[in-house]
Amino acid sequence: MSLEKFGNITNFDKKAHFIKDFFLEFYQGEIELFKSPIKHYRTRAEFSFYHDQDELYYAMFDSKSKKKFIIKNVDFPDEKICQFMPVLLEKIKRNFNLKEKLFGVEFLATKQDLSTTLLYHKNIETICDDLFQLSTDLNCNLIARSKKKKLVFKNENLTQKLKIQNKEILYKFNNDCFIQPNTFINEKMITWVNENLNLQIKKDLLELYCGYGNFTLALANNFHKVLATEISKNNINFALENCKLNNTKNIDFIRLSSEELSLALKKQRDFFRLKNLNLDIFDFSHVLVDPPRAGLDQSVIELIKNYENIIYISCNPISLKENLKILNHTHQISKMAIFDQFVHTPHLECGVFLTKK
Ligand SMILES: C[S@@+](CC[C@H](N)C(=O)[O-])C[C@H]1O[C@@H](n2cnc3c(N)ncnc32)[C@H](O)[C@@H]1O
Repeated sequence: MSLEKFGNITNFDKKAHFIKDFFLEFYQGEIELFKSPIKHYRTRAEFSFYHDQDELYYAMFDSKSKKKFIIKNVDFPDEKICQFMPVLLEKIKRNFNLKEKLFGVEFLATKQDLSTTLLYHKNIETICDDLFQLSTDLNCNLIARSKKKKLVFKNENLTQKLKIQNKEILYKFNNDCFIQPNTFINEKMITWVNENLNLQIKKDLLELYCGYGNFTLALANNFHKVLATEISKNNINFALENCKLNNTKNIDFIRLSSEELSLALKKQRDFFRLKNLNLDIFDFSHVLVDPPRAGLDQSVIELIKNYENIIYISCNPISLKENLKILNHTHQISKMAIFDQFVHTPHLECGVFLTKK
């Protein structure tokens, strides 16, 4: 659910106005607003292909009306994606094997890298040589996917360098990781959290839904120790690699769902994945949560309300409000920001600092 429910608001100023009213019962203070550039803001862009006899076009389908839009020029994806799209299309058009049964493409860009994934309704092994040649000719990182099959040409991993408070943080991830879709806003969100941490003494941070360490690596320096958890093995593997990349030694990344973590911290269940880690050594002053759109379930709320400071990053104001109705009994909002992560859509990202009453 998004702000669509409230009349499809897509203009950022109007969205901000809506949010102020929507959360008024919990927070009457100033809300910081972070606007996105209105062009070239999307890190990840997905398109369908439309075949019309011999012609091939990029297309988008309206999810409600199912109406098809042929895409000739777009300016919302990262500039590297915009430049690469026509070049790729021309190459594919001229090769029957590459064109046949091709139905979609996903582009993923970082500040320095670009990866392209072509989606097929046929066995991609039969066109392996054509795909290899395409990747060689265009000197591009190419992935091809069809049912249960994936082929990688050149490199599957991307690197990213984020600038947070004048420090450069390095990340490595791949297409299967969760990726914040707007790099400009992502840097703003991490910086906002960093700047607003209330740290009289260095204690420990607990992070749930940590992904590949997007927030974790930038925040770790502020804390004595960090425990960061996440459900996806792929994300955790990159998080561990990202610790090495940044020479960060005070983070324990563990693959645990937030529900499993609740059980482990309450000592209601033992986990083999925790055999080398004594949870009693942590003294958490802060907990950071960045859940999926559904928000936090009851067991996670019960867990986090024990901590003095909660930082809640949310991509869905509706589930955030539902969760705040409960957290409001123990905590109060001390700071709030909204981030125009999803430009020109009814979606937006909120950040909230909560402190114990
Ligand atoms: C909104 S993303 C945030 C990721 C990360 N904080 C970032 O900025 O890239 C939510 C993350 O929660 C993970 N996730 C989804 N359900 C989960 C669960 N039940 N327990 C733990 N992690 C979960 C997803 O794999 C995803 O990486």
